[in-house]
Amino acid sequence: MTTATPESESPAAPEQNDDVALQVEGFKVYYETPRGTVRAVDDVSFSLKQGERFALVGESGSGKSTLAMGLMRLTRPPGHIAGGRAVLKGQDLISLSDEEMRQVRLRDMALVPQGAMNSLNPVMRVGQQISDGIIDHLPEDEPKPNKAEMRDRVVALLDRVGLQPMVARLFPHELSGGMKQRVAMAIAISLSPSVIIADEPTSALDVIVQRQIMQTLGRLQEGLNASVLLVGHDMGLVAQFADTVGVMYAGKLVEVAPVRTMFKNPLHAYPRLLIESIPTLDEKKRLVGIPGMQPSLLNLPPGDVFAPRSPLKFEPEDALVEPKLVEVEPGHWVQLSRASVEDFDKYAHLVDYG
Ligand SMILES: Nc1ncnc2c1ncn2[C@@H]1O[C@H](COP(=O)(O)OP(=O)(O)OP(=O)(O)O)[C@@H](O)[C@H]1O
Ligand SMILES: [Mg+2]
Repeated sequence: MTTATPESESPAAPEQNDDVALQVEGFKVYYETPRGTVRAVDDVSFSLKQGERFALVGESGSGKSTLAMGLMRLTRPPGHIAGGRAVLKGQDLISLSDEEMRQVRLRDMALVPQGAMNSLNPVMRVGQQISDGIIDHLPEDEPKPNKAEMRDRVVALLDRVGLQPMVARLFPHELSGGMKQRVAMAIAISLSPSVIIADEPTSALDVIVQRQIMQTLGRLQEGLNASVLLVGHDMGLVAQFADTVGVMYAGKLVEVAPVRTMFKNPLHAYPRLLIESIPTLDEKKRLVGIPGMQPSLLNLPPGDVFAPRSPLKFEPEDALVEPKLVEVEPGHWVQLSRASVEDFDKYAHLVDYG
């Protein structure tokens, strides 16, 4: 994780560090609803390094899937990308044509969508679904594989996600949840993308299968030296997988840190509470939830939206100050606000609220 650089002067030629796979800057995705604008992803910036495993966590409705879909340019009305950039291999994805973006999907960046197991076509055999994905996204200058070559490719992909060759002949309803999730992963890696976004790949699976799926995702990541953006809401589960954790709250990133730092020294009250609420085996403590509810993303009030739930004592006017995401030490970013950060005074010199 490195800093999100300020807006470049020349959007046509975005700068990008060599070790950065995907740089997201000021990314916004809004839904226009009859009741107003839902700012589901609001000014999110982070960078995903080459080979990095970045986990994005946050409670339901915090904007994780909206961000994942937005980065893939799969946002559907009433949603739209309202601003920002997502730079992959020196190209700003937001400025690509639909056709150019179609070429990027699977080849450079692939998504295992939330509920992937329900997104498979129920009337098409698994092998056919994998090969269709390959044909659809194959570079124009690459010859189309013949039948035998395609069969070999499909079998090799199934093998990489831990499935037997015979699975190619099955229909989705003949597979378990974990197997379907593996098929979705096989489709995602079919053209060896450099970035894989996996949105809650283990939800609705039992604990053992969850662990196996995470291991497979880890092996795929290593095999491709890909960068993974893993979306989840279970801090404990992602901690075992991720190098870096980003925590979202109400459409914004409130803290990003290397996983150890996040667990040892979370600075923002929200991740702190999330971590405190992870149950442990040896300590029979009462499980604490986070009091209050996430606010509606419709017409959010100004200032620090976490303030009403913050356990800290602060002056009411402190909650009205718009927090800023600031790098407090290398790779550790926090949305600084007196209403949400206990040691605020220690970092106050880093913020210029302008
Ligand atoms: N089509 C839509 N129209 C209006 N609002 C939407 C739409 N889709 C999502 N939203 C709103 O955007 C916000 C973010 O939703 P999103 O699905 O991205 O959350 P999430 O963090 O992925 O949640 P979960 O953990 O439940 O998957 C929510 O407030 C949701 O109500
Ligand atoms: Mg989601």
